[in-house]
Amino acid sequence: MADGVNSRIEGLYRLNPAERRHRIAEATHQNATTTAVLAGGVLGEARADKMIENVVGIYELPFGIATNFTINNRDYLVPMVVEEPSIVAGASYAARMVRASGGFHASHDEPLMIGQVQLIGVSDVEAATSAIMAQQMALIERANAQSMSMVARGGGARAVEVHHFAESPMGPMLVVHLIVDCRDAMGANAINSMCEAIAPLLEASSGGRAMLRILSNLTDKRTATARARIHPDALTRDGIDGNEVIERILWAHAFAVVDPYRATTHNKGIMNGVDPVIVATGNDWRAVEAGAHAWAARSGRYTSMSNWSRDDAGYLCGELTLPLAVGIVGGATRVHPAARAALDILGVTSAGKLAEICVCAGLASNLAAMRALATEGIQRGHMTLHARQIALAAGAEGNEVAIIAQQMIDSSQIKPAAAEQFLATLRGSLTEA
Ligand code: MEV
Repeated sequence: MADGVNSRIEGLYRLNPAERRHRIAEATHQNATTTAVLAGGVLGEARADKMIENVVGIYELPFGIATNFTINNRDYLVPMVVEEPSIVAGASYAARMVRASGGFHASHDEPLMIGQVQLIGVSDVEAATSAIMAQQMALIERANAQSMSMVARGGGARAVEVHHFAESPMGPMLVVHLIVDCRDAMGANAINSMCEAIAPLLEASSGGRAMLRILSNLTDKRTATARARIHPDALTRDGIDGNEVIERILWAHAFAVVDPYRATTHNKGIMNGVDPVIVATGNDWRAVEAGAHAWAARSGRYTSMSNWSRDDAGYLCGELTLPLAVGIVGGATRVHPAARAALDILGVTSAGKLAEICVCAGLASNLAAMRALATEGIQRGHMTLHARQIALAAGAEGNEVAIIAQQMIDSSQIKPAAAEQFLATLRGSLTEA
């Protein structure tokens, strides 16, 4: 459990990875062995070989921790697995601005998911719909017999809905929705088994033929919402007054509201915060991505996932709601040792709480990106990190990385050849000295 966590760890970035693991273990009251697995190499070929097919190896990614998150008056250190520089720093910085005004406020729905069974060749739609609805209880019972563990955890199938599509490229169809309460599981496997199990009953009562039987990734009954307020003073940057920064951020948001080309990039910036938490905790990021973008187009036009406004007191106010089907039991969440450690660091005890953290990380990333874009642009920060990566790739180690990166920036030559040359010169001068 990570109760009593203080997510404000000053100077974490100045430590080396082993020292950071130690600080995170301390701050989250974890045994050092929990964070030791974050050093990598823990999945193991035998386990990987059981997870997917034709395994030839294990692909590693950096595991970072975003600091400063306060959500519903509780602090969280947020695990993020991602390859892109600036994301962890941006989310931490934005979370700090939000923290100064009381932190994020988050909420989540009941974990209701939708399974779909497609029925074709139904001659009498009304009669079929009535017959299906009349045997709702039998359908729920048959579905629940497929997943006793979900039922034992207080979940299970709850209801049935019938949707009619009078036209499609292949003709009319009925689509039956099975509403399933997944509790702390993401639920995909259980829902798919349930859909397959009820299909014969649906065929019998509708007189039609069951085709697809699969969950929907548009989990619009299972959303999480984050809200944040930021004081204008916290937004001041490069001599630009905070109120002016808010004005510019509102223009950036307005751009994403009206223009799908911009909305796509704006939303990518939101998913920059969400996906790394999903990956760190062993959840299905493709499912979350698919659902989030479908949700962003629910009005019939693809638009910004987030909403930003200025309140009467002059604060910048942000809100983000996303469908978030994540689990803390089952699947890779418990198989992958690093995902287990990520959940332990978060100290979440329900899938809903994890969804709240994901949506707050998304809002934080969105705020960080908009603030940078509305002021100095994102390239300055990116270039520093990019230069560091090139220095590393050129063989720089320890202090050399920062020195070589700075030399590349100062000479406007951020490229491998320059890094190699600067490194040779630096090492040469050290040898001579
Ligand atoms: C880059 O990964 C994300 C941004 O492009 C998001 C945005 O434009 O809002 C900076």
